Amino acid sequence: MKKNTVLNLDTGKLLVAPSILASDFSKLGDEIKRIDDAGCDLIHLDVMDGHFVPNITFGPPLVKSIRKYSDLCFDAHLMISEPLKYIEEFAAAGADHITFHIECDCDPNEAIEKIKATGCSAGVSVKPMTPASAILPLLDKLDLVLVMTVEPGFGGQSFMANMMPKTREIKDAIKAGGHATHLQIDGGIDTSTVIDAATAGANMMVAGTSVFRNPDGATAAIKALHDAQSCLR
Ligand code: DX5
Ligand code: ZN
Repeated sequence: MKKNTVLNLDTGKLLVAPSILASDFSKLGDEIKRIDDAGCDLIHLDVMDGHFVPNITFGPPLVKSIRKYSDLCFDAHLMISEPLKYIEEFAAAGADHITFHIECDCDPNEAIEKIKATGCSAGVSVKPMTPASAILPLLDKLDLVLVMTVEPGFGGQSFMANMMPKTREIKDAIKAGGHATHLQIDGGIDTSTVIDAATAGANMMVAGTSVFRNPDGATAAIKALHDAQSCLR
């Protein structure tokens, strides 16, 4: 196992994962240092292939080049149609955790096994239209479930509060099964929506715009999100 997977993070803690999608790509190394110094818990990497989602971001070479700027867990969110082809490359480039989408073109059990074989922790994500039932049978093999609160593809969209019943349902199943699974929320998280997400049972908050572009700075932004710990179900 790699030493910095999500297995080393406490599922009872409210954790903040800034998405570099909202950073200034012209100085990415400095941006990563900035959020690491600001007290975030992991770094969220949004990988898009222009096929699974209508946007393109970056691949393993970029992950490799930024690895030296932080020792925190690199959390790769693969919004790509064929994750099986790229899991090993992302792990070799420095990803510590890999999440793929249940809606992609692959056998989920095979993807989970492949991710774990690289030493990374494994997660699966559900788009807004996908019900919890699509991933519940996989729970005992998963280290993380990611509930999307926007349609994947772009940062800066509005939080879909109607995803909270699904979040609760997944949290209930995690508790009922006695699993140590992180429940991550991604899309439109800020100081107000984080309360909804934590109350529904999510312990890991992805935040792009509200951290990187916060006029009060990243330290204040991350602290404000951490403060929702008191609402965590
Ligand atoms: C959307 C991405 C998110 C997104 C979060 O496809 O997975 O990580 O960039 O950005 P904000 O916080 O700006 O919604
Ligand atoms: Zn993401």
